[in-house]
Amino acid sequence: MPQTILNLAVEGVQALQPYAPGKPLSELEREYGITQAIKLASNENPLGPSPLVLQALREAFPDLARYPDGNGFALKAALAAKLDVDAACITLGNGSNDVLELVARGFLSPQSSAVFSAHAFAVYPIVTQAIGARSCVAPAHDGSRGPRFGHDLQAMLAAIAEDTRVVFVANPNNPTGTWVAEDRLRAFVEQVPDHVIVVVDEAYFEYVDAPGYPNAVRWVGEFPNLLVTRTFSKAYGLASLRVGYGVSQAALADVLNRVRQPFNVNSFAQAAAVAALEDERHLERGVALNREGMQQFEARFEALGLNYIPSVGNFISVDTGRDPGQVYTALLHEGVIVRPVANYAMPGFLRISIGLPEENRRCLDALARVLAT
Ligand SMILES: Cc1ncc(COP(=O)(O)O)c(C=O)c1O
Repeated sequence: MPQTILNLAVEGVQALQPYAPGKPLSELEREYGITQAIKLASNENPLGPSPLVLQALREAFPDLARYPDGNGFALKAALAAKLDVDAACITLGNGSNDVLELVARGFLSPQSSAVFSAHAFAVYPIVTQAIGARSCVAPAHDGSRGPRFGHDLQAMLAAIAEDTRVVFVANPNNPTGTWVAEDRLRAFVEQVPDHVIVVVDEAYFEYVDAPGYPNAVRWVGEFPNLLVTRTFSKAYGLASLRVGYGVSQAALADVLNRVRQPFNVNSFAQAAAVAALEDERHLERGVALNREGMQQFEARFEALGLNYIPSVGNFISVDTGRDPGQVYTALLHEGVIVRPVANYAMPGFLRISIGLPEENRRCLDALARVLAT
């Protein structure tokens, strides 16, 4: 094999598919020469953050030249009070992605493996392979014993091997929007061997109102190997600032802290997150808006005869019944950015983030036009 820079990379990185982010609005408008485009591609909060956040950001400006609080004292204190845990149980991340990466760096090696489900969030294989660890993908439900494309926790347990050190459970999962119920998840956490870290990724926690949906943070005191991750990027509307967190027992948080960059969460993100936690009403408004938007999509998909995966998140995946790449491109021409999910082995599907009512309507009208041609 001829020597290339890529050959020099560790084996896992050579085979790695880089994360494909949603297309930015500015890029679409530049490329297609259009204006007023809408982006429903990255599960962002269409309401934006609370006004309290904007105020906190203004107040943070004078400290621009200072390093942030590397221990995140105020944010950890606010989270600890809200979640009723000790501040030592919290790990702050540059987005919850960062926390997922800290798990991989802290617990995986080229001699170990991580287990996750088929169709699970794309960052799990990335952080696993970047370390040179083996990715072990458990088959998802086929629709007979659980929601189609949803995590099959029995299959995930069966996939755990001697060398497994981490198992990732996305609850709910992105891009499927599927979720696992409290009794099942709890039984799963109980059965995972002690030498395996169970990551329960609750990035969309605040949006979920399904009966039986668990709050895994409540179990952290019982399981030394449990880590629950959450984020300010979705329901709190702070995606651009990059701030998320993990909740675990202090001993696990200590491992993550050892591999964490000292100033991984900037001052603006910390101040904004504290302010966001104070505005419950804004959070509720966003959640209610999402619920209505979800109904708007479901009703129209049904009218159009399109199959979709019922979702408890702020996005929904729909089977276009066509080559989704072509539908995606046709929607771009209509000024609508959605997310292709070809890399998730869900043929025919596109994922659409729930936006403002008018954005949802524009997206649905454009989809109907595209599918009618
Ligand atoms: C399931 C899941 N986990 C984690 C994340 C990471 O989000 P962030 O790094 O913005 O906190 C996302 C973002 O899309 C997600 O969908």
